[in-house]
Amino acid sequence: MQAGKFVDLRSDTVTLPTEEMMEAIRHAELGDDVYGEDPTVNRLEEMAAAKMGKEAGLLVASGTQANLVSLMNNAQRGELVILESESHMNWYEVGGISSIAGLMPWPVRSQYGALDPKDVKAAIRPENIHFPEPALVCVENTHNRHGGTVVTPAQLQMINEVAHGNGLKLYMDGARIFNAAVALNVDVKELAKHVDNLMFCLSKGLCCPVGSVVVGSREFIKKARKVRKVLGGGMRQAGIIAAAGIVALEKMVDRLEEDHRNAKRLAEGISKVEGICIDLTRVQTNMVLLDTSGLRVADEVILSKLKREGILVSKLANNKLRMVTHMGIEKEHVEDAIDVVVRVADDIRNHGFT
Ligand SMILES: Cc1ncc(COP(=O)(O)O)c(C=O)c1O
Repeated sequence: MQAGKFVDLRSDTVTLPTEEMMEAIRHAELGDDVYGEDPTVNRLEEMAAAKMGKEAGLLVASGTQANLVSLMNNAQRGELVILESESHMNWYEVGGISSIAGLMPWPVRSQYGALDPKDVKAAIRPENIHFPEPALVCVENTHNRHGGTVVTPAQLQMINEVAHGNGLKLYMDGARIFNAAVALNVDVKELAKHVDNLMFCLSKGLCCPVGSVVVGSREFIKKARKVRKVLGGGMRQAGIIAAAGIVALEKMVDRLEEDHRNAKRLAEGISKVEGICIDLTRVQTNMVLLDTSGLRVADEVILSKLKREGILVSKLANNKLRMVTHMGIEKEHVEDAIDVVVRVADDIRNHGFT
């Protein structure tokens, strides 16, 4: 459990490393990774690539850096990138897609986070002197702002056919790809095989303190290593990060199912509260989105009342709150959180925002 007395449902990024990770960090064999000489990093990268069915892997500092390295490596400055309009790359990465990678984002809306292949096709305009060259399609799986929704292998295959059929590459922001694989009960390779390259995060539900891994062809990763370097991401004795990553891949994937069960219970409990709406079909992994418009108060009022009762929740948009389950959130915390939401909603309905 993280420090403090709160039930912290803001994000799975708040997870702390396990004791086993701390032990692995303490005993990690280290070297200079910029020279390619950190055996622990090399082992993690090989493991990650093998798990995803790709040729090679690259440890990077964060999910944002993984996406940036991949964008810069999959497309040339001035080219066009088709991505989902609510995607993390479009919303939360400080516009690095434009300001650093020099690419033109072309956001496409979707209902549940999975791009409709017809919309992708429509976004790929024919050759014309006025248009930027389209280079890349990006998918996000699971989809964060859509509430942890899963993009299935069948959907990925259809998007792949449109992208590749038109000469574009397909990249996956798989920050939570293991959540998708666990929810679908498929080998993660079944998701990874439809994209040219992808990244996943070690530091979310898998509980590592730092790190993400980009995987793809040997050629792609060789170039990505250089892009990571120009972004200042060449790390030296990065085995202390990789050691935790190895434990994560070996021990932390299967338990994600518990987070999914807890999210479902949380959603079911809160969906009965008058004034709060939850689309239960969206609760597919470890996230729950709450539409609080029925309570008719500013989100800040709800958030501060919940906080006063020990529950931390994040805000995605007006009247849209998000709860995320993760290691450290046990069944009893879920029941506590439901009780608190019931009380806070009652209080707001009865007394407004006092
Ligand atoms: C879908 C997705 N992609 C990328 C990232 C970025 O990861 P980081 O916070 O490690 O930069 C996040 C972080 O929450 C995410 O949810």
